[in-house]
Amino acid sequence: MAVEKAQKDVSMSALTGKVTAPGDKSISHRALIFGALAEGETKIRGLLEGEDVLRTAGALRALGVEIEREKEVWRVAGGKLSAPEKPLYLGNSGTGARLIMGLLAGGGLAASLDGDLSLRSRPMGRVLEPLEMMGASAISQDGRLPVSIVPNGQLKGIEYRSPVASAQVKSAVLIAGLFASGVTTFHEPTPTRDHTERMLAAFGASIDVSDATGGGRVVTFKGGQRLSATEIIVPGDPSSAAFLAAAALIMPGSDITIENVLVNPHRTGFYNTLEDMGADVTFENERVSGGEPIADVRVRHSKLNGVNVPPERAASMIDEYPILSVVASFAKGETRFAGVGELRVKESDRLASMETGLRACGVNVETGDDWMRVTGGAPRGGACVATHNDHRIAMSFLTMGLATKEPVTVDDTRMIATSFPDFAETIAMLGGNIRQSI
Ligand code: S3P
Repeated sequence: MAVEKAQKDVSMSALTGKVTAPGDKSISHRALIFGALAEGETKIRGLLEGEDVLRTAGALRALGVEIEREKEVWRVAGGKLSAPEKPLYLGNSGTGARLIMGLLAGGGLAASLDGDLSLRSRPMGRVLEPLEMMGASAISQDGRLPVSIVPNGQLKGIEYRSPVASAQVKSAVLIAGLFASGVTTFHEPTPTRDHTERMLAAFGASIDVSDATGGGRVVTFKGGQRLSATEIIVPGDPSSAAFLAAAALIMPGSDITIENVLVNPHRTGFYNTLEDMGADVTFENERVSGGEPIADVRVRHSKLNGVNVPPERAASMIDEYPILSVVASFAKGETRFAGVGELRVKESDRLASMETGLRACGVNVETGDDWMRVTGGAPRGGACVATHNDHRIAMSFLTMGLATKEPVTVDDTRMIATSFPDFAETIAMLGGNIRQSI
């Protein structure tokens, strides 16, 4: 088991310099999947070469898709899918598993899917229910992996009102909808990340998106459309950049720039919250690349105040609450967030993982079913924190340890490779020190 420590020393330096964050995980999965569905050869630059995305690439290869890396370009030869010989193993990747379920159901491909212990504990019924309404057949373990998709003829488009705000559910239904007869209409209770919609358009499909009364959104999509191969440039992942931004905010004297970060408004809730807390965060050189807005994110150490994060912001920062709770533990006063019950079904129960770890580091924290309250100050650190196979919990506590009075240790760092393989090296390029002690 890898044990790593965020080590503070006497010369504890400010973080400075320019770095890039790894490619966006959500866009990377989708680029491979839509590349596999499109006619012709799709070229992808900047793909996240993290374990989650490589699992999706492996599953697509098992479905007969040719995927190759040539220097920095990934090439996907799409349009030919066949049932796999063996079960598909998606490791830790919820996005990979759920989106590929949509693909299997739509494409009428018989296959079983499985994952690691964390993925086996996560709800899959939220995807299987709409797919079954479309006519698919599936066998699951009470709504969990392993899941088998059984071919059941052509699916039909449905009108589905999703009870959860989940881009993964939306994407699985839209991918299945591509193969279905008629129109698929998906209502989401609050807007979630729209990379699937943008990418369908980039691959030549026509898709309609409109705001619904009450703050939700409706996506309408006609089945049977052909996708044609394209070139995708994957921008830096704002969810990974969040750890670097947080490190700079809590380390006195820091001034860093994270170049080329995706700033799609459905992904920037964390940065809006930092601004509310009084953080000096600016988006510089804003531009559009590959159909997505990007910017260089400059972050300077700041005095922070606790805030109430509105529940309607949850979808736009769902993966950033663990690192937000770390930032909040350095702020003046209380930070509260509510409407985040989804955190209980991520790679770990993130409300519980953060509550236990923060408390062990001397932070005053309380949680309920779907909320958390953190009282900030000058956290002591000095604990070994259990990460529960969750990459974002590991990176949150290592970031915290850069600025606590005593170093913070985490029990395992292997999962960090799922989304940010060069995390410790990137912190080191900025002048921070995370080191392996065993
Ligand atoms: C993702 C959507 C989010 C997010 C996950 C990636 C995606 O999950 O937590 O890391 O790529 O669609 P939900 O859509 O289930 O909230």
